[in-house]
Amino acid sequence: MCGIIGILGAGPAAPRLVEALKRLEYRGYDSAGVATLDDSGALTRRRASGKIRNLEAELDAAPLSGPAGIGHTRWATHGAPTTANAHPHATDKVAIVHNGIIENFRALREELIAGGRKFESETDSEVIAHLISAEMDKGLSPEQATASAVRRLEGAFAIACIFSGHDDLMIGARKGSPLVVGLGDGEVFIGSDAIAVSPFTTRVVYLDEGDIAVLTRAGIKVTDAHERLAARPVHVFSGGVAAAEKGNHRHFMQKEIYEQPETTGRTIARYVNAFEERVEMPDLDGVDLAADSAIVIGCGTAHYAGRVAEYWLEQYGGISVETDIASEFRYRRPAFGKKAFSVFVSQSGETADTLAALRYCKEQNLKTLAVVNVPESSIWREADARLPTLAGPEIGVASTKAFTAQLSSLAALAIAVGRAKGALSTQEEGRLVRALMETPRLIADALTVEPEIEAIAHELAQARDVLYLGRGVHYPIALEGALKLKEISYIHAEGYAAGELKHGPIALIDEHTPVVVVAPHDALFEKTLSNMQEVAARGGKLVVITDAVGAVACADIAKHIIMIPACDPFVAPLVYSVPIQLLAYLTAVHKGTDVDQPRNLAKSVTVE
Ligand code: AGP
Repeated sequence: MCGIIGILGAGPAAPRLVEALKRLEYRGYDSAGVATLDDSGALTRRRASGKIRNLEAELDAAPLSGPAGIGHTRWATHGAPTTANAHPHATDKVAIVHNGIIENFRALREELIAGGRKFESETDSEVIAHLISAEMDKGLSPEQATASAVRRLEGAFAIACIFSGHDDLMIGARKGSPLVVGLGDGEVFIGSDAIAVSPFTTRVVYLDEGDIAVLTRAGIKVTDAHERLAARPVHVFSGGVAAAEKGNHRHFMQKEIYEQPETTGRTIARYVNAFEERVEMPDLDGVDLAADSAIVIGCGTAHYAGRVAEYWLEQYGGISVETDIASEFRYRRPAFGKKAFSVFVSQSGETADTLAALRYCKEQNLKTLAVVNVPESSIWREADARLPTLAGPEIGVASTKAFTAQLSSLAALAIAVGRAKGALSTQEEGRLVRALMETPRLIADALTVEPEIEAIAHELAQARDVLYLGRGVHYPIALEGALKLKEISYIHAEGYAAGELKHGPIALIDEHTPVVVVAPHDALFEKTLSNMQEVAARGGKLVVITDAVGAVACADIAKHIIMIPACDPFVAPLVYSVPIQLLAYLTAVHKGTDVDQPRNLAKSVTVE
């Protein structure tokens, strides 16, 4: 989604704004722009559609001076990704950047146009600049005018503004979209997340819902949703600049795939007592793990992590589980059992639909548990309790290490529920915990199959359609494999439960359709083998991901076998995630797509 950076600094702001915008590229965008206050105190701006390099070319041709400025990467919602629609939007008095959607923009725009104001863009955002200007025309100060304008905005937003003639002032406001303030030495910053300000400072303040922050180089003043002065704690952001570097890797996605032994290890260690071989949960603030049922909600990859958890919570936890996509769940007015809790899975912690689903559950007095990667994000803060995933900042738009970290936290949750429900004996818990502790090593072993996958990816890159099959807990892994391939290679892919094949999808099989099967040699392997035979009999090209025993069993029908270390069935979804990620990644590299910022996608979907 869109990214915001603002600087009240000591040296020229424009190059630093561009540097910060590059850190925000991972969020997905289709135009970018910056505005600064020049030496005479006037607002000047440069904008460009497409990549940040186009903005840099604009700035090279006509540089911007001044130590104060704001910048933005825009992911188009209202209006095409043109230069005119790119932020900042400005009048002679104020320049603004905005993330989110202003729902009542049409009414505001008509009112402002009727008052004589001229609009240059098709965006909802431009009304903010005109609204603030109109208030200033009535004699209000920038601070009063911003507060007054913000009161009239409906929808979700985070904004940052600078004002002509005020070279030591920047104002930020949030409602529904995150915004952080960075504190430097004699400098202050504003950003849509901590990564935006991380090149300049590690000291950050996370603004709360409804906050307005008035920044000067001397510090910040925050007022809350009730217009009272508010104290917000200063955090030290440990993600750091290094987290946003590719290191020796060609893409962030590749780097993040290879970080998984460490990120799963870190997450598992958070929940496991290795000496006693048991799971230890943090304080869950009243979430009763001995409940009868649970609801697990997320979007995209996070939803698929929830689907894996459904199998785990039922099989090992002994509770009934319902999973849903947040955008469906929030509007279907679901009914809940009396003894239930809800789980919200999200990398960013800012996904609009997941956040709305969480709020719905809270209104229904259901306890809420967040499995979230970004600390202090909205879902993190609004949930009753949280199970952090410790994947660190994920930059690649296609989620990889966040997925396996989500699985790690959810696996620990399933064990904790099993203990609370009396569904697991101490011995069984010990076995599952030992399996979890082995997982980072198994993931490291699975990463060594990259050279074999490379050759298969070359072939997959020629395909128009690819099917992914899996059974039981590997059905969601098949769904995730198909999503990964679609997202970054733009090849059409579908995931199916292997047993569902003959009920329709088998019609798609021909000699041009690769079929990727996630099939460890577990209790369901023989069933999946029958489905593989059905595919082979129709000329389908089987790419089977399995272990040594499974490889022998399907050697005569598989075109390719990707061999993964044998592992406990409990942790197999974590280990089998690695080859499906590598397969998608290497296929996309062959196709030459923009792996880290695939077209049309945003890292964090903060609009409905
Ligand atoms: C995954 O590769 C996606 N880009 C996407 O499906 C993502 O998982 C989804 O938008 C949910 O995001 P969240 O985890 O930040 O809530």
